Amino acid sequence: MFKILEKQVFSPIIKQMVIEAPRVARKCQPGQFVILRIHEEGERIPLTIADFDREKGTITIVFQEVGKTTKQLGTLEAGDYIKDFVGPLGTPSHIENFGTVICVGGGVGIAPVFPIARALKEAGNHVISIIGARTRDLLFWEDRMREVSSELFVTTDDGSYVRKGFVTDVLKEIIDARGKDNINLVLAIGPQPMMRACCNVTKDYGIKTIVSLNALMVDGTGMCGCCRVTVGGQTRFVCVDGPEFDGHQVDFAELARRSATFRAEEQRALERHTC
Ligand code: FES
Repeated sequence: MFKILEKQVFSPIIKQMVIEAPRVARKCQPGQFVILRIHEEGERIPLTIADFDREKGTITIVFQEVGKTTKQLGTLEAGDYIKDFVGPLGTPSHIENFGTVICVGGGVGIAPVFPIARALKEAGNHVISIIGARTRDLLFWEDRMREVSSELFVTTDDGSYVRKGFVTDVLKEIIDARGKDNINLVLAIGPQPMMRACCNVTKDYGIKTIVSLNALMVDGTGMCGCCRVTVGGQTRFVCVDGPEFDGHQVDFAELARRSATFRAEEQRALERHTC
């Protein structure tokens, strides 16, 4: 059993938890994820690690309540326990001094961008971060992202905070202003349409772009094939080959179709849960 040490509510649907998981904290690297199960009968859900503290033996997760399991998770409080918390899973982010890197975090995707941006900055990169959300209420960690970025840009879709627009608008403006040859890498994490849109922008400029995919998962160890995606015409498993891939090679249309496979069942489970 894994104890929830802290809980913070960023908005009615976005919550942060600090989990006591010393063995995961000891080994995890930026870009990796965990699979948790709230109770014996529960669904397994993958969540990318948002932060870790090796000395305290803790892992920070940030999640958005979108279905039955994340809503149940959101009802737990500090002092409660989670049944399973398996990790670290997946391949860590590739960190080196690339030069100038743009890190884009959309919605709850801001959380997994944070440790990667921090590692990239520590490696000597000039880190330009762009974070965005639909509205001000859904934006979090502006202060933390500012700490690990050389420059930070903030957008909201509805203009309720800082700049109105999408992260892709800012991404394009920065590339145009600095010159495509002065941007060495883009990292984009967020909803699938956002990552796809970022890749569409950077493809025109020929800037390598890494995305972190959120696929359906069961075992998280490469055994079930549930998380398969097509990257560069080849079948890859998000849980072991990823979660990060070259975004220009990802078949996003297929990923979206596969992600919707159990939508009706998910909706029914959610309705049963809320009724
Ligand atoms: Fe089963 Fe990736 S989740 S192979």
